[in-house]
Amino acid sequence: MDSINQLLKPVTARVNSAGNLEIGGCDIVKLAEKYSTPLYVLDEATIRAVCSDYKKAFEAYPKVNMMFASKALCTMATSKLLHDEGFGFDVVSAGEIYTVYKAGVDMSKVLFNGNNKSLDELSLAIELNVGRISVDNFFELSLLNEVARSHNKVVDILLRITPGIECHTHKYIQTGHLDSKFGFDLTQTDDAVELILNEYSNLHLRGLHAHIGSQIFETSVYGDAIEILIKELARLDKKFGLKLDEINAGGGLGVKYTDDDCPPSVYAVADIIINRLNDCIKKYKIEPPSLFIEPGRSIISTAGVTLYTVGSSKQVPKGRKYVAIDGGMADNPRPSVYQAKYIAEIANKKEFSSLNTVTIAGRFCESGDILIKDINLPELEEGDILCVYNTGAYNYSMASNYNRVQKLAMVLVNNSQSDMIVKRETLDDLISHDEIPDRLKS
Ligand code: LLP
Repeated sequence: MDSINQLLKPVTARVNSAGNLEIGGCDIVKLAEKYSTPLYVLDEATIRAVCSDYKKAFEAYPKVNMMFASKALCTMATSKLLHDEGFGFDVVSAGEIYTVYKAGVDMSKVLFNGNNKSLDELSLAIELNVGRISVDNFFELSLLNEVARSHNKVVDILLRITPGIECHTHKYIQTGHLDSKFGFDLTQTDDAVELILNEYSNLHLRGLHAHIGSQIFETSVYGDAIEILIKELARLDKKFGLKLDEINAGGGLGVKYTDDDCPPSVYAVADIIINRLNDCIKKYKIEPPSLFIEPGRSIISTAGVTLYTVGSSKQVPKGRKYVAIDGGMADNPRPSVYQAKYIAEIANKKEFSSLNTVTIAGRFCESGDILIKDINLPELEEGDILCVYNTGAYNYSMASNYNRVQKLAMVLVNNSQSDMIVKRETLDDLISHDEIPDRLKS
């Protein structure tokens, strides 16, 4: 069965009677007028449809805990929405913990990940009763035990292991291969378990965690990760008599940024995971563990688009035509960091058919700030509204204030209604943390 991560655009994207692009029943040109550009827009119907895909796809396994990887997008409104859809959260910082907490999330459904969590972050996680902490290394085992002891608590932990799986994605977003900064090597898990059992009495080991990478199009790697996790669970039971009852298979499912991308469906991935899990339960003779998954991109990417206004343009004699927009690498760093590709349309020219090849340039002071190279679009004029698709994940969450430019607003659309869920930064916001020392004031 197909799933939403295989679509290029939000499920509600269509051309309306005015000939403009419409998403969530809202005319994109009017949204740009109302909220100004650049603007992030999220389609609620698409997010809910993805959640439904995930829930249906995994319903064949009775013990599944779905968590959304907040690093893909972390706002209070999206956290509330996903929590209402039944999702827990994978968080990686005090900021993400605080955001989901303030959004009213059940903190027992939150898992804290990361390879260098600070003492303050671990303390906050314990004070707010975060459900699980995935411990990444020996230093953290000892630090977390100390923090838990000082709070007089025993905390439930998973051990993050490095499964040694190489998947075909950009090398910056591979994480499960052996030479990785994340997790315990499989040769180190016995030492970690011995420390937990014999010395760290404020830690309660519940299970194992692995994450193999991001924007993954292969399916077999998920089965391999499951086999490694279950085999290790069974081995630890045999060696230490440990009845671990949880595995976390991470996130990673890819999305369709361009026509060339063919991600598998959520249903295909779930089948691989569940079938392999059931096989391994028999093969290694263990009780069925709870399965955690923590997808980020595939939940939120397709629902998001970014609107820009077209400004200046430049035709290089006998070369490219550059058309500049009012945003770029600070609101979407992915093209410059990962050479990521995107598609776009002109929201106000949906019915134009003759196309020209242009390159969409960002407004930031770097030659590398090119959002889309060589895209075919109708003749672009100043004031046109460019809609870039699939920007829901890792755009806002990786945005910066480069060139001292304000971060964008974000709007949630549904049933012809639009609500601002993140306000646009103001010039005063930009200087609100600055201080001029007295000695420089005279
Ligand atoms: N769990 C762990 C432990 C992770 O490290 C990640 C992503 C996820 C889950 C969620 O993976 P997803 O389902 O979103 O693929 N900034 C990069 C992506 C970095 C992913 C980091 N870890 C990008 O823009 O492509």
